Amino acid sequence: MGTAEAKAAETPVAVSEPGRDSLTITDQRTGRTYEVPIRNGTIRATDLRQIKTDPDDFGLMSYDPAFLNTACCTSRITYIDGEKGILRYRGYPIEELAENCTYLEVAYLLLYGELPNAKQHAEWVHNITWHTMIHESLKKVMDTFNYDAHPMGMLIATVAAMSTFYPDARNVHDKATRTKQTYRLIAKMPTLAAFAYRHSLGMPYVYPDNDLSYTENFLNMLFKMPAARGYRPDPTLVKALDVLFILHADHEQNCGTSVMRSIGSAHADPYSAVAGAAAALYGPLHGGANEEVLRMLQEIGSVSRVPAFIEEVKQGKGEKRLMGFGHRVYKNFDPRATIIKRMAERVFEVTGRNPLLDIALELERIALQDDYFVKRKLYPNVDFYSGLIYQAIGIPTAAFTVLFAIPRTSGWIAQWEELLEDPEEKIARPRQVYLGSGERHFVPMEKR
Ligand code: ACO
Repeated sequence: MGTAEAKAAETPVAVSEPGRDSLTITDQRTGRTYEVPIRNGTIRATDLRQIKTDPDDFGLMSYDPAFLNTACCTSRITYIDGEKGILRYRGYPIEELAENCTYLEVAYLLLYGELPNAKQHAEWVHNITWHTMIHESLKKVMDTFNYDAHPMGMLIATVAAMSTFYPDARNVHDKATRTKQTYRLIAKMPTLAAFAYRHSLGMPYVYPDNDLSYTENFLNMLFKMPAARGYRPDPTLVKALDVLFILHADHEQNCGTSVMRSIGSAHADPYSAVAGAAAALYGPLHGGANEEVLRMLQEIGSVSRVPAFIEEVKQGKGEKRLMGFGHRVYKNFDPRATIIKRMAERVFEVTGRNPLLDIALELERIALQDDYFVKRKLYPNVDFYSGLIYQAIGIPTAAFTVLFAIPRTSGWIAQWEELLEDPEEKIARPRQVYLGSGERHFVPMEKR
């Protein structure tokens, strides 16, 4: 018997003791029993490695494609209870933050763990406002894109390009340097996003205006006409956009954020990591869904065609999806969707009712009664109504995901900061289960 085997065989068999924080595992291949500790409702996957059939065995691994049941980190930023529809940032319910805060206050909360007092808030707003301009050469990078380039493609490329303008960003272990990149990223994302939009229209860029709030400034950069004086966005629309920014600011370990952490774990600079996270967000199953919802509503075209569309989705058996429905975590309702739906009404009082709203409401009504959707716990998610508001504000469909990426930047950076300060931090490196051929030998081309 090898040493590892002998050690495993010596592991005492756990006596069943209620209240003990451990898991007893019996390996039926060998008949051996192991006890692994349970902490915070988890076992450590590496504790499984002691479970071997013989000393040469690599040891047991867990197999979890798409991370359905694997926690990759501990975090103190965002809490979600998917069954109860709860979302909290640093302990505060999302509903209270959306009601009472500005996006910049929430960004500060995510990053520093507490809501800012008046002095901290003034400094924070000043620091962000100070960094809203982008380098003129970066503007030239923007100019090189085709007129019909997707705004997300332009945003991803220009955020990545920022790392070449701020080489100090590579110094990720220096807290002061990190803080500076944090200001730059949060401040410059709206500028890049607005420039991408203006470029797609062939319109001159509008530079940031430091007298405006974060959200007002963004709308100003999007819509101000150089010849027209005194553009002031409607306060209801400013508030609506600010609330949307709060709702999108963080969502714990989703696809984009886990990419941020993965790239960050290799100690890449934050611009490269944010570009990677934004690329994940671009996908139609993730942040790209808000764009797809609008396209879907336009394709349906009228309330009378909703039942036929629902039928197509059901017959498509996963091939065709009801975009803006379903969530990996929320299995009851998405609290962000509830807030957005309420806010849509206020926005439409200013802009006029978006005719697509009736189609959306009918889709929701039918889907929530239909066995197919009920059984699979598919409910409207954050993207179902957000696009209708963006459209009412005058933002073109292709730019919707960009509006998601702007506020999510604060969440990405908060998660990246937490990762770099985590004593357990290591480069992310998942394992695989190899099912390919065993060793075989080269065959020259003429003999294949
Ligand atoms: N429409 C129709 N059927 C759906 C939908 C949908 N929107 N979402 C899931 N299903 C079905 C699947 O076909 C599957 O059915 P089956 O059990 O018969 O095979 C079942 O529900 C479970 O679906 P999964 O894909 O396993 O669920 P998962 O948790 O992996 O996916 C996701 C979650 C990607 C959000 C999915 O619900 C989806 O594609 N929704 C539409 C896209 C969307 O709105 N994405 C935005 C999510 S929010 C965000 O990322 C910001």
